[in-house]
Amino acid sequence: MGSESTIFIMISAVLCQASAVLSPVVIEEQYLFQPGNPGEVDAYRIPISIMCPDRSILAFAEGRKYGRGDYGSKFLAMRRSKDSGDTWTTTEFVLDDNPSVDGLNLGNVIIDYYNNSVIIVYVHAHTHSELYMVKSLDWGVSWGKAIALSDRNPKLKGYEWTAGPGYGIQLKYGPHKGRLLSCGHGMSLELREASCLYSDDYGDTWHLGGRVLGIPFNHTKNTGDFAPGESQIVEMYDGTLIMMSRNTEAFHCKCRIFSKSYDAGESFPVSDIWMVDDLPDPNVCGSILHHNGILYFSGLDSRTSRTNMTLYWSLDNGITWPGYLPIYLHNSAYSCLTAIDNNNIGLVYEKGNNGHIAFSKIRLHA
Ligand SMILES: *[C@@H]1O[C@H](CO)[C@@H](O)[C@H](O)[C@H]1NC(C)=O
Ligand SMILES: *[C@@H]1O[C@H](CO)[C@@H](O)[C@H](O)[C@H]1NC(C)=O
Ligand SMILES: *[C@@H]1O[C@H](CO)[C@@H](O)[C@H](O)[C@H]1NC(C)=O
Repeated sequence: MGSESTIFIMISAVLCQASAVLSPVVIEEQYLFQPGNPGEVDAYRIPISIMCPDRSILAFAEGRKYGRGDYGSKFLAMRRSKDSGDTWTTTEFVLDDNPSVDGLNLGNVIIDYYNNSVIIVYVHAHTHSELYMVKSLDWGVSWGKAIALSDRNPKLKGYEWTAGPGYGIQLKYGPHKGRLLSCGHGMSLELREASCLYSDDYGDTWHLGGRVLGIPFNHTKNTGDFAPGESQIVEMYDGTLIMMSRNTEAFHCKCRIFSKSYDAGESFPVSDIWMVDDLPDPNVCGSILHHNGILYFSGLDSRTSRTNMTLYWSLDNGITWPGYLPIYLHNSAYSCLTAIDNNNIGLVYEKGNNGHIAFSKIRLHA
């Protein structure tokens, strides 16, 4: 090899390394959902966002009409951005559950790249549990009718389970490529578990998938028991799935529960459940994202209260989490991450404790 090409290779190696240096920074932030109109919505909660193949970002939240509580009547609110999160359409309501006491709860938003659809899986769960989905075939511009998941699989009738909250995924690799996965948690404290539903027919029929059962199983949990709650899942390049769950009873530590599946979400072996001491959990929902080989986590840097929204990242598939970027060092809670492009990710999160949802755009490399 000539010395010229050797030098060229050396220079490009240095340039590659330099451009690969990960130094995330928030480049813009704005409120997406704010309560205000009297008689309309008292609080927005449970933010979810997702990037569509046409490059529009969809952001969703529960619009809680008459109070901040988890139950009660709600809108499913949405805004769309066509310019990578810089500007957004005005708030639309995808669903209105009307003055029902069994208000809807989010939920997973999933992109089906095969059928070009967006699927929202949600639950009505106050007095009687029922899972539903609603689909859009035009990247969120219009939405079809709500369909009960039990219409196609009677085993899901009355299933006490809720998706997410956050985004769900479609598998890109392996023998079950194309499978849709909606992961979430069993709702009662007796049957609190992290588990997934999957669909191999592009969302027509959903089946019970892998479960990370709570211990003691089917008993009320005490502080310190194993009770994985709200969950999100990502797929790695080798087809391994990594699920991150809320540690609702502070098992082992006030930190996150992780688990792995090697069979496309049908099981989560106990030998592959681990606790991440470095990711605090004051008992709140968080989010994970696999983006270009790096795992990102958004959650709270506090073990005691809902404050300190922070972005963490891991370069070794979730074992160590050396990356740390404070986003908002005040009251904050639920969040959801979205890949925007190679150099930017988005974060929707509950900012403050008055029902406001903000969107942050985070640039990854300088
Ligand atoms: C979704 O796409 C698959 C694969 O292209 C096709 O077989 C199936 O009929 C489609 N389903 C729906 C509900 O459109
Ligand atoms: C949980 O326990 C209750 C009461 O003992 C029982 O009726 C129910 O079938 C159990 N559920 C499961 C999933 O084991
Ligand atoms: C929030 O973060 C700040 C700065 O890192 C820290 O001093 C504070 O203790 C954190 N608050 C809580 C409640 O953990």
